[in-house]
Amino acid sequence: MARIIGTDEQAIRTAANALAEGNLVAIPTETVYGLAADATNGDAVAGIFEAKGRPHFNPLICHVSDIAMAERYALIDPLSRRLMDVFWPGPLTLVLPLRPDTGLHPLVAAGLDTIALRMPRGVAGKIIAALNRPLAAPSANTSGKISGTSASAVEDDLGLKIALILDAGPSEVGLESTIVKVDGDAVQLLRPGGLAAEDIEALIAGTLKRIDQRSAIEAPGMLASHYAPSAGVRLNVHEVRAGEALLAFGPQRVSGAEGAAASLNLSETGNLREAAANLFDYMKRLDGSGSAVIAVEPIPFNGLGEAINDRLVRAAAPRVPPIALEQIK
Ligand code: TXA
Ligand code: MG
Repeated sequence: MARIIGTDEQAIRTAANALAEGNLVAIPTETVYGLAADATNGDAVAGIFEAKGRPHFNPLICHVSDIAMAERYALIDPLSRRLMDVFWPGPLTLVLPLRPDTGLHPLVAAGLDTIALRMPRGVAGKIIAALNRPLAAPSANTSGKISGTSASAVEDDLGLKIALILDAGPSEVGLESTIVKVDGDAVQLLRPGGLAAEDIEALIAGTLKRIDQRSAIEAPGMLASHYAPSAGVRLNVHEVRAGEALLAFGPQRVSGAEGAAASLNLSETGNLREAAANLFDYMKRLDGSGSAVIAVEPIPFNGLGEAINDRLVRAAAPRVPPIALEQIK
């Protein structure tokens, strides 16, 4: 059992002290809860991999409290800087060349010469500022499980492995951050996420370069099975089969919906932001409903729909061929 506390000034000090002592603390961010460690403390960072059961070669996002802190650890080109100016704090992670000899533990970047940096909104930033050091923080869940979007989800999954959880209620965005990497004048989308690609494209007045997700080892956490629930997942369904649970979207129901063993609607009105915020929680609840298969209604690909579909394809991965991503576009 982890100790669950709030997010007031006292809680921020408690969290910063625990982190300074090398402990793991689960912290709320606007995207998902993070399993945080002081990024300059190798033992603490190693503890993240241990708690998550995560392969060591998978690099972690390093969270900063402001752009000045980002500049201490990475070389920031003008276009990346513009993205930070506009979208930070927020659900955007930038992969940048790592400065040498900054004190950041090499395990954070898993030995790469680049570092993924993000400035989260809300209490996480206050904790980082109080600690005055960056935090390495992957999503707070066992590797391969659904990301934690509430203190209770984190407690259920990791409560025996961590001492402290800060509870700020359900995550506002509900999807991990969008990860990009500037490459000359172009911006590569390494992981679709909580900031819609269109919002970045509007700023850069161009199209994001989408890497081939099947060969994409540049963001190694993008493994196909990364978000797998225990139940099977059937995507883009046009009918619900006997015994299936239904993950619905929008006002229209597919045929057989009334016979579903369990049913949750990501957004009755078809709002993709609301759907993103509900996604992991509802997947977890339907997974716990006892049905062997979760049938998922079609979800559009615009805005946050790209990231929602990406996570769903990964959730379905052990049971569908990789071509599925193309099929549902
Ligand atoms: O919203 C989020 O991003 C959450 C919250 C807690 O901030 N964090 C998160 O971290 O999703 P994690 O560790 O679950 O995902 C990090 C992703 C992985 O896919 C990893 O491979 C990629 O970032 N990544 C990290 N460093 C990288 C690098 N130097 N180059 C390319 N990809 C990198
Ligand atoms: Mg994760």
